[in-house]
Amino acid sequence: MSDLSELQTAILADIASASDEAALEAVRVATLGKKGSVSALLSGLGKMTPDERKTEGAAINALKDSVNAALVARRAILKEAALEARLKTETVDVTLPVRARGLAQGRIHPVTQVTDELAAIFADMGFSIAEGPDIESDDYNFTKLNFPPDHPARDMHDTFFLNPGADGERKVLRTHTSPVQVRTMLSQKPPIRVICPGRTYRCDSDQTHTPMFHQVEGLVIDRSANLGHLKWILEEFLKAFFEVADVKIRFRPSYFPFTEPSVEVDVQCSRKDGEMRFGEGEDWLEIGGCGMVHPNVLKNCGLDPDVYQGFAWGVGIDRLAMLKYGMSDLRPFFEADVRWLKHYGFRPLDLPNLVGGLSA
Ligand code: DAH
Repeated sequence: MSDLSELQTAILADIASASDEAALEAVRVATLGKKGSVSALLSGLGKMTPDERKTEGAAINALKDSVNAALVARRAILKEAALEARLKTETVDVTLPVRARGLAQGRIHPVTQVTDELAAIFADMGFSIAEGPDIESDDYNFTKLNFPPDHPARDMHDTFFLNPGADGERKVLRTHTSPVQVRTMLSQKPPIRVICPGRTYRCDSDQTHTPMFHQVEGLVIDRSANLGHLKWILEEFLKAFFEVADVKIRFRPSYFPFTEPSVEVDVQCSRKDGEMRFGEGEDWLEIGGCGMVHPNVLKNCGLDPDVYQGFAWGVGIDRLAMLKYGMSDLRPFFEADVRWLKHYGFRPLDLPNLVGGLSA
C-alpha cells in the first residue's frame, strides 16, 4: 500500500512540474502508456489470488483514476497557458499607421462591393452565408435539382464539363449557385435561411454575358414559408440595395426544374432620358428567378415535403452591380484594367453597412 502511495506522490509531482504539453505527454506514456508504471501494476493483477486482487485491484485502480484526473487537469492548464503565450506573440499593433499609398490607390471591385452589400442587407434579415465549390458534381448541379436527364441546360453549349475522373464521373463548372441549396439542405436542419453568393460559369460571351459571372442564391426552408414571405424579402432587399424608399415588384409565371410554382421577378423602374431609376416609373425590368422549392428537390436532399416547404431565388450579382452603378458592358469587369477599376471601384475602408450607408 505504501509503495502505491509513494508512486502516486511521485507521479503527481511529475505531472505538476510538467512545463508543457509534450512533457505532460511523456509522463502519461511513462505511467498509463502500454509499458507505463501503472499499466505494469494493472497487468500484474492477473497473477494475484482473488483476495489479493480485491484489495490491490481497487487500490491500483484508484491510483490510475487519480493519475488520469491529474493529467486532465494539468493538460487544461497547459493548453490555456500555451494559448495565452501564442496570443501574446501574435498581437497586431492596430495603432500602426496605415500605408497611405495603398489606401489611396487600391480599389475594391464592384462585384466585391455588391457582394458585401448583399451580405449586409441579408444578415440584417437573419440570413447567413453558405458557400460551395466552383467545380461541382453533375448530381448537385443538375440531378438533385430535378433537371430531367435530357434537359437542354446539360447540353455542351451551356455547361463547361471537365474530363471524366478515374471513377468515370464527369464534373462540371457549376452553371448556377443553386447546387449550394442542395449542399445546405443536406448539411443543415430546417429552419434554413441562407444566401449563397459565388462564381458561376457558362459558355457564353457578349456585352452582358461572360463565361464566368456571379450569382446570389437565396434559400428559406421551414414549415410554413410561402410566396408572400418571398415577395416581402425581395422587396425589402431591393429597397435597401437601390437605396430607395419604395419599390414595386411583380411575379410572372415561369419554369425552373427546381421550383414549383416558378416565377420571374420584375422590378418597377423608369428609363426616362436614358437613365435607369428604381422605385418610380411605369417600366419593368427582369431581375431574377424564384419559386417554391420543388418537392422532388426537398426529397432529394433528405427533407420530407409533407413537413417542410420553402422558397428560393437566384439573381445575377454582376447585373445588380451594372444596374446600381451604371456600367453598360459586363466584359470589362473581368479584364483587370486598372483604369476601369479606378473609375468604378470603391475605397478599401468604406465597407458597406446599413448604418453607415451601402454605397456611401
Ligand atoms: N439557377 C437559376 C439560373 O441560374 C436561377 C434561379 C431561378 C435560382 C429560380 C433559384 C430559383 O433559386 O428559384 O438561371
